[in-house]
Amino acid sequence: MNGFIQTIIQTLVGFCPLTFDMVGLGVKKKLMVSIISLPGHYTTPTLLVAASSSPQMIDKAKEAIRRFHSADIYWHDRLFQWTPFHQGFWGKVFRHRAIARIAHVSGGDEYLLDVGCGNKPFRKQFHVKHHIGLEHKETVYRDNEADLYGDIFGLPVLSGSIDTVLCTEVLEHLEYPHQAIDEFHRVLKVGGYLIMTTPFVYPVHDEYDYFRYTPMGLKFMLEDSGFYISKIAPLAGSGISFALLLNVYVTDIGFFWTKWLYPIGLVFRPLLLLMTATINMIGGILEIVIPSRHHKMSVFSFNHLVLAIKP
Ligand SMILES: C[S@@+](CC[C@H](N)C(=O)[O-])C[C@H]1O[C@@H](n2cnc3c(N)ncnc32)[C@H](O)[C@@H]1O
Repeated sequence: MNGFIQTIIQTLVGFCPLTFDMVGLGVKKKLMVSIISLPGHYTTPTLLVAASSSPQMIDKAKEAIRRFHSADIYWHDRLFQWTPFHQGFWGKVFRHRAIARIAHVSGGDEYLLDVGCGNKPFRKQFHVKHHIGLEHKETVYRDNEADLYGDIFGLPVLSGSIDTVLCTEVLEHLEYPHQAIDEFHRVLKVGGYLIMTTPFVYPVHDEYDYFRYTPMGLKFMLEDSGFYISKIAPLAGSGISFALLLNVYVTDIGFFWTKWLYPIGLVFRPLLLLMTATINMIGGILEIVIPSRHHKMSVFSFNHLVLAIKP
């Protein structure tokens, strides 16, 4: 009875052993069942059956599960990101399509500065001599394709030297967005273009996710820094945006469940993929049947595209 209470207390504080006596082949063997809490985003109890009670073994198992989960997410993204089975499918398609449409209007074809470039997802869209990627030295993008490290609030670039500034999915992560826009204005040549995307309706996605912008807010900030606005447009209408949000929600639940009980959760993965694809399809149909992108108000666009010129 004491052992039982001890087990409950140990389990409640997050970790470990229920000890069973197992009779098999005439030998009494101890089998330990642990409920492991992985530190990190979610507390993740995972059922583990180990043949030893050594803490080192438990640590190893925890690490293995953490790695497996990271690999699971990594491969999910790699395999499905360009297919309707991925929660971010419409986001990718609409962002790439919109940028491809305006890539040719850049101020010149010499220097493009991709600020907060990550892995330069729009490299192929621009035909410039120098696509310079800039990243913060403490970026979370370990496989980033930066050519230059520096801070967006004091770009290590000469004034009036850049033809096009590209800044995708960065503005919402900045504490002083106004200061960054002033910097874009400073480094651009006269007649140079600023191309930017930033979310409007999208879940908080990391601890540096500070702001969301309406088209009017973007217009105000850009004009205040001296830009002429050529275009501020929703990247998609409400149908696509609702599908995207619902899919992020469904995928979060799906992966949470998977984490709880690997490998049982993996069995349900095809169901999750099927659900994601169905939601994407419904979003696509709604976008065609009830187009909302061109309304002035009430557009739940997940993201906006900005094209501004330094006069
Ligand atoms: C969501 S990622 C976007 C990456 C890429 N532009 C894209 O569209 O996939 C935001 C990027 O902004 C960078 N960033 C955030 N704050 C920054 C700063 N103060 N200076 C330079 N880069 C910054 C981050 O390192 C990160 O790579």
